[in-house]
Amino acid sequence: MTLPDSDALVLFGVTGDLAHKKIFPALQELAERGRLTWPIVGVASSEWTLAQVQERARDSLEKFAGGVEPGAYETIAQALDYVAGDYRDDATYEKLRKALAGSRCPTFYLAIPPSLFGTVVTGLGKVGLATGGRVVVEKPFGRDYGSAVALNETIHEVFPEESIFRIDHYLGKESVQNLSYFRFGNTFLEPIWNRNYVESVQLTMAESFDVQGRGRFFEEAGTIRDVIQNHMLQVVAMVAMEPPARYETEMLRDEKTKVFNTVKPLDPAGVVRGQYVGYRQEAGVDPASDVETYAAVRLEVDSWRWAGVPFFIRAGKALPVTATEVIAWLRLPPQDVFAEASSMNRNYVRFRLGPDRVSIAIGARTKKPGATLEGREVELYVCDESGEETSAYERLIGDAMKGEKALFAREDAVLAQWTIVDHVLEFDEPVIPYDEGTWGPEQADDLLGPTEHWWEPSSSG
Ligand code: BG6
Repeated sequence: MTLPDSDALVLFGVTGDLAHKKIFPALQELAERGRLTWPIVGVASSEWTLAQVQERARDSLEKFAGGVEPGAYETIAQALDYVAGDYRDDATYEKLRKALAGSRCPTFYLAIPPSLFGTVVTGLGKVGLATGGRVVVEKPFGRDYGSAVALNETIHEVFPEESIFRIDHYLGKESVQNLSYFRFGNTFLEPIWNRNYVESVQLTMAESFDVQGRGRFFEEAGTIRDVIQNHMLQVVAMVAMEPPARYETEMLRDEKTKVFNTVKPLDPAGVVRGQYVGYRQEAGVDPASDVETYAAVRLEVDSWRWAGVPFFIRAGKALPVTATEVIAWLRLPPQDVFAEASSMNRNYVRFRLGPDRVSIAIGARTKKPGATLEGREVELYVCDESGEETSAYERLIGDAMKGEKALFAREDAVLAQWTIVDHVLEFDEPVIPYDEGTWGPEQADDLLGPTEHWWEPSSSG
């Protein structure tokens, strides 16, 4: 079903962290491209004046958008209105209804804690604002399979599935979209992109920073809920999916959901959880916390294409570098002509998804110049670009306003993603401590086969 263009953006949580760090910078980008043509109504419980909210927007652009672009800021400030009120109070929604007078299909962006999603959606429904409207919800979508089902039911009481936009900002990244473009836009990869040629696949999402003041949030999440259930599994889907019949929203989402349905639920024996030393001293963290700030997992994608090819994921805070990469190791040549066979010498395809360099590279071997027949590794760069042309949030907010859903997570996919991790959200074994600036607990090596090693992305890409 095609949705019309939305004619207003309502930002619940306009004074909060997400709006400050991601949403206002994205709005500046949209304004710079002349795409911010709708009114914006901020909603929050703080008794602020509109001028204070505008000032907050300016501060956000200074700190997180690389500076204020005066014309774009003016567009945002002019478009902005503010409704202050308690989310539990019906009067707040009445005020919002008045502020939205004339809007036929507003977009309600819930940049608020998930515990408030139900309250806000119900409040919108009561005053009739859901009719014609659409809702954008941020991850985490639930805390586990059961709570995700319950949350879907609550939202569905007010909004039909086609009006729900579930954000996983990894889907908005240029580099993640390029993964499927590179796979399906070329001929040469397809014949080898399967269990016959690929020996294993690794995904690393390393962050050199710690929880950065988000201790309270992290205590509720942990790495598996924070990034593996969502961002990392979305990347697995891009790597493993079959080509869609056409690049159309539902066809694309069907193919990704199929991948989630073929991934076997994680086995606790295939999971290593770590916690950086110092995490328990962070503000908002339980001094005896067992929440993981690092996780390494072994996945099995049980499909015709991938059966028997292990997918390894590791993600963590306070690691040596900040980098997200996928590497697919190819099998060694069938005959060891140069007596150099070693897992270190395998060919590979590497996708650097961020943060600053976006690249696709192929690792191959060539002869070292000289009298002997010795090899060396070279990397062929297919693309190597710095920065992203369009930020994930600009792309996703723009798409939500236009009613384009291809880059948003569908209900069945989110539930299938929870099914994969649901058995490993509670643990008997405590987290393993690791020092900041290291690659996490050594026990993660045991997840790999005897000849495998973890790929260590560099800081430069
Ligand atoms: C967020 C997580 O969803 O993604 C954070 O909550 C994480 O913990 C962030 O740091 C990473 O996003 P990006 O785009 O910087 O890789």
